[in-house]
Amino acid sequence: MVEIAVMGYGVVGTGVIEVLAKHAEGLTLRAHEAIHVKYVLVRRDFPNPPMMGTFTKSFDQILEDPEVKIVVEVMGGLNPAYDYVRRCLLAGKSVVTSNKELVAAKGADLLQVARDKNVNFLFEASVGGGIPIIRPMSQCLAANDVVGVAGILNGTTNYILTKMFRDGTDFQSALKQAQELGYAERDPSADVEGADACRKICILASLAYGRHVYPEQVHTEGITRITLADVEYAETWGGVVKLIGEVKRTPDNRVSCIVCPMFIGRESQLANVDDVFNGIMVRGDVTGDVVFYGKGAGKMPTASAVVADVIDCVKHLKARKYLYWSDGDPDYVEDYREASRIFFVRAHAADADAAFEKAAAAFPGASRLHRKQAEPGEFAFVTDHLQEKVCDEKLAQLQKEGLTVDSRIRIGEM
Ligand code: HSE
Repeated sequence: MVEIAVMGYGVVGTGVIEVLAKHAEGLTLRAHEAIHVKYVLVRRDFPNPPMMGTFTKSFDQILEDPEVKIVVEVMGGLNPAYDYVRRCLLAGKSVVTSNKELVAAKGADLLQVARDKNVNFLFEASVGGGIPIIRPMSQCLAANDVVGVAGILNGTTNYILTKMFRDGTDFQSALKQAQELGYAERDPSADVEGADACRKICILASLAYGRHVYPEQVHTEGITRITLADVEYAETWGGVVKLIGEVKRTPDNRVSCIVCPMFIGRESQLANVDDVFNGIMVRGDVTGDVVFYGKGAGKMPTASAVVADVIDCVKHLKARKYLYWSDGDPDYVEDYREASRIFFVRAHAADADAAFEKAAAAFPGASRLHRKQAEPGEFAFVTDHLQEKVCDEKLAQLQKEGLTVDSRIRIGEM
C-alpha cells in the first residue's frame, strides 16, 4: 500500500478523490499497489468530510509523515503551493500537480530539486486537462527535434468563441456558462486575457526545447477585443478565429513564442477544435505533424491526468523518470515584433475604396475582403508576409493619413 496526500479540495481535488475511490480496484492492478489517501489538506472545515482520507489543515502533518510518499498538489496559485511543493520534494516525496501557474513560473527550479532528491515531479494535468501531452512529448516524440508547437490551450475561451460564433451568444453569457461548467479559472480574466494559455505554452516550450520559457517573456493577447465583425471576416477569408499559443525554434537557436487570437484556415486540424476541447499540434522533424485532441478543462478530465501521474509515481518510487529542463535566459525568447506573418486588418475611413487603394500601395499583395453587414466606410484586407514591426509602422503611417484601424489580427499558418 502506498500512502498519498492530496493538497487542495476544490474542483480538481474532489475529482481526484472521486476517481481514486471509484477506480480503486483497477488502479491497484495498474499501479501494482493499493493507493491510500492518508491526508486531504483543506483551508476550511468540512462538516461531513468524505470517508476517504483524513482532512487536515496542517501542511506540516503531511510533510513530517514519512509514510506519505506521494503528494498531489491541486490547490492552484503560486502561494503557498510553491513553498509546499518544494518542501515536499526536499523531504524526498514525489509530487504530482495540475498547477500550470506553478510549473510555468517555477518548473526549472522544482525539476532541479526533484533531480537532486531523486524523486519525481510530474504535471501531466497542467496542460490540456485530460489530454496526454507532457508524457508523449517527453517520451514518445523524443526522437524528434521539435520544429514548433501550436495549440488551442484554453477550454474556457474556446467554449466562449464557439458559443459566440455558432449560437450568437454574447460574451458574458458564454463566460457564465463556462464558469458554471467548472471550466473557468477562479479569476476568469486569466482565461479571457490569455494568461492561462500563456502558462501552458510556456510549459510546452520549456519541454520542447529543454530551457525554461517564463510567462513574462511571452507576448500575450486575449479574446476580449474580438468582435462579430472579425469573425464574419474570418469566415469570408475561409477560416475561424481561435486563441492560439505558439512556439517555434528560430534559426539562431532561440524561440519565438506568442499567445493571441489568430485566423486559422478551415483546412487546419485546429480549425474544428470547438467547445471546451483543446487541440495541440506538435511538428516534429521526423514525425511531421502530430495532433492531440480532447477535453482541456473540467473536473474529471483533469483528475484523470493527475491520477495517471500518481500511478506513474507509484510505479517509479525508487527510480526517477526523466523529465527535466534547465533555467531560462532573458535573451532566449525572440521579440515578437521580429516575426514575419500575414495579417488581417479591419479599418474604416470616409471613403473606403480610396483608403483601401492607399493601404494596397503600402502593403503590396494585399487582398481585400468583404462582408455582408459591413458598416459605412468599413473595409478589410489581408497582407502578404511581413515583419510585425513593419506592419505596425505602415498602419501607423496610414492612420496619420486619415484611416482608422479597428482590428489587426495575425493569421496562423498551422
Ligand atoms: N481555465 C482553464 C481552461 C482550465 O479553461 O482551459 C484548465 O486549465
